[in-house]
Amino acid sequence: MLNFEYYNPTRIVFGKDQLNRLPELLTEIGAKRILIAYGQGSIVKSGLYQKIVYQLSDFHVVSFQGIEANPEFTTLVKARDLCREEKIDFILAVGGGSVIDGVKFIAGAVPYDGDPWDVLNKKENCNFIEAVPFGTVLTLPATGSEANSGAVINRSEFEQKRVIGGPMFFPKFSFCDPRQVATLPKRQLANGVVDAFMHTLEQYLTYPTGNLLQERQAEGILATLVEIGPKVIETPDNYELASNLMWCATHALNGVLRCGVPTDWATHMIGHELTAFYGIDHARTLAIIAPRLYEAMFDDKKEKLAQYGKRIWNLTGTDDEIAKQAIKSTESFFHSLGIDTRISDYTENHAGVESRVREVFEHRGWIAMGERQAIDPARVEAIVAAAI
Ligand code: NZQ
Ligand code: ZN
Repeated sequence: MLNFEYYNPTRIVFGKDQLNRLPELLTEIGAKRILIAYGQGSIVKSGLYQKIVYQLSDFHVVSFQGIEANPEFTTLVKARDLCREEKIDFILAVGGGSVIDGVKFIAGAVPYDGDPWDVLNKKENCNFIEAVPFGTVLTLPATGSEANSGAVINRSEFEQKRVIGGPMFFPKFSFCDPRQVATLPKRQLANGVVDAFMHTLEQYLTYPTGNLLQERQAEGILATLVEIGPKVIETPDNYELASNLMWCATHALNGVLRCGVPTDWATHMIGHELTAFYGIDHARTLAIIAPRLYEAMFDDKKEKLAQYGKRIWNLTGTDDEIAKQAIKSTESFFHSLGIDTRISDYTENHAGVESRVREVFEHRGWIAMGERQAIDPARVEAIVAAAI
């Protein structure tokens, strides 16, 4: 088992009818002036926004609507300015991964003196060092952002998607009510299943380390998602299914699975570029890249692919046969959820995409990614070419 440090201070409040505890939690933190930040309006349609405003009647409340899916830098800068004008001391993110990630960025940008793009752009000595405290009310189980300290921010004018993180970006609390799943469109439900599945694979499909607990935990999430994924898309108002999806998605990226194991994350890094170029939903970019990346990195990953094939897909044969079939089973699983796995399924405008992605990685000076640092820009180009 590799050395590790595990730290996760986020308080998860899970289940039905928990929102009436919101004032109590905010009072404990000492919050007085609260910004409610949300997306394009699904929470108004579902009535969640009104419920939250009702709970916050004893606080000074300001609302900011309009954080986009793949949260936009320029929108978030407007929210930062509003926080400063209103002297906001707590931000409540109400939404999916985009709203929560957007709030992490806003929270870091409020006390930051310089241009926050420099931070995203990894300019030397430009870092967020503190953040306005924030909490979340999760409406879309997928990213795990409600229980981790990472965020992904988009700047579409530059066709760039950038990652930030740090301990100050753990939410103080997250309300996770599976009933929110009931209003999700099929497209977002399928995205949620695939994103949680892929977060697990990024931390599992590497090489054996003898970390038996972490491997079994990952397999528990994968097996649960295989079992419930298609059903929850058909019946999102089934509370048992929705609660299992929500808890799987939180666990897939709350830091537990990476304890003592190597991690890959190259599928995510390449996938982010497809969102930046074409606006393809995050989870779908993963479904496009992962099968081709596993084929390209087959020799490096075959032992874990075989274990995955046996334990999750009940495959039989030689280890090599099982490992190859496991990639096919994964892709078929994505198809069964209604998720296409080729770039050309999403855009006709894909000429030269493989060299564009390669150039992004070269430009950023990224030498190599993956659990063995074996995925260099040339390999990235080959993987993207195979995914067209
Ligand atoms: O804008 P609103 O009105 O809220 O509508 C959203 C949005 O259109 C809608 N929605 C959310 N909850 C709903 C709902 N519609 C009906 N009922 C509900 N209960 O769903 C749409 C998509 O929302 P979004 O937040 O974009 O989806 P998701 O949670 O999949 O987040 C994707 C973003 O998270 C980043 C991705 O890159 C992407 O930008 N990620 C963040 C990670 C993290 N912080 O750890 C890790 C992930 O790998 C990922 O990169
Ligand atoms: Zn993801």
